[in-house]
Amino acid sequence: MTTVVAKETPAPQAAVKGLKGVIAADSAICLVDGQEGRLIYRGYNIHDLAEHSTFEEVCYLLLKGDLPSAFQLEEFRSELAEYRRIAPEVVSFLKSLPRDMLPMSALRSAVSVAGLYDPQAEETSAEAQSRTALKLIGTMSTLVAAIHRLRQGQEPLEPKLDLSHSGNFMYLLNGRVPTADETRAMDLILILHAEHGFNASTFAARVISATLSDWYSVIAGAIGALKGPLHGGANTEVLKSLIEIGDVSNVGPYVERVRATKGNFMGFGHAVYQVEDPRAGHLKELSRRLGLEQGKPQWYEISVELERVVKEEIRKNCNVDFYSASLQHYMGIPGELFTCIFAASRIAGWCAHVLEQWDDNKIIRPSSNYTGPAERAYLAIEKR
Ligand SMILES: CC(C)(COP(=O)(O)OP(=O)(O)OC[C@H]1O[C@@H](n2cnc3c(N)ncnc32)[C@H](O)[C@@H]1OP(=O)(O)O)[C@@H](O)C(=O)NCCC(=O)NCCS
Repeated sequence: MTTVVAKETPAPQAAVKGLKGVIAADSAICLVDGQEGRLIYRGYNIHDLAEHSTFEEVCYLLLKGDLPSAFQLEEFRSELAEYRRIAPEVVSFLKSLPRDMLPMSALRSAVSVAGLYDPQAEETSAEAQSRTALKLIGTMSTLVAAIHRLRQGQEPLEPKLDLSHSGNFMYLLNGRVPTADETRAMDLILILHAEHGFNASTFAARVISATLSDWYSVIAGAIGALKGPLHGGANTEVLKSLIEIGDVSNVGPYVERVRATKGNFMGFGHAVYQVEDPRAGHLKELSRRLGLEQGKPQWYEISVELERVVKEEIRKNCNVDFYSASLQHYMGIPGELFTCIFAASRIAGWCAHVLEQWDDNKIIRPSSNYTGPAERAYLAIEKR
């Protein structure tokens, strides 16, 4: 069979594998500066937001473009809190799933089902679009917590509207009102993961929304993209590595084994950052603190040694997923749930991008260089 490179319009250019470095749109939401290691949401450096802000404030910033006044934030908070409840049909659906359900698959399916029970799911007015964005941000953590509790054989809890978004999330997961430190730890995780430019799941969300599909299809698709171990699923894999290593003294042999099989070091490398991921240090410090407080510093210590050796071996820095693994482990969150926590945060970025896409929409339809067979005659089945 002859293989030719045929033309699709316009004239073929060399394909950019993985679209790396391709500018696919203008966007005012986020700057990921891979050379300097800067992450900026709507003009604000992630370090300032991590230190001073809250997840609700970051959501407002991402969705509306500016920081809120105290009054605006209060209004926004209570509106977001109202959307914490999930439809009873969605809870029944989750209860019908096997107890050992994969959390990200359950979350993807739950979002899809939630769309079927939202009478406004297909509304396209600007007001309905903004409302559904808040609804999705508000309910995502309730869905994640419900999945977690059902997997533990426990009943999902009713959200508490008087707690902050992160406080309520921790309450729904653990069944007790969290301490200020626990709430702050979750808030930090949510702030740091909320947005990251044209990453794979956000791009997936933009592609789906650009067809003018509905909110729930968009977010179910984005969750599917986030689930992959090369993207959000990496944090779950990092914990598996730490557990496999088990002790600082085993780091060297582990690294050798992965190198020998040309394996991937999960939680290392990044498509954009050439220098340290600016989010990693915040998670590292919190992981260190919790390890000490709990008298179990080994998960932090294994991570630090693994970071050192991998960096030396492959010249790759750790990314956001690396220290989020030991940190969430200290917070009592099971590894399989880590990517769902990521989703409960990144929903804010997805929503900001979808609103931006719809504000000036154009269907996203790139081309490919055709490398299949040249046009040929159809052969009847009995002649093949
Ligand atoms: C994130 C990731 C997918 C980016 O991939 P990318 O854009 O192709 O990365 P680069 O262009 O910098 O890769 C250059 C080389 O380094 C290797 N490399 C990158 N990250 C690596 C890692 N974590 N472990 C081992 N090798 C790695 C690549 O395989 C590639 O080698 P090749 O040229 O022989 O194929 C990749 O670094 C990775 O798989 N990391 C582990 C998964 C992870 O942590 N994902 C979460 C990202 S936030």
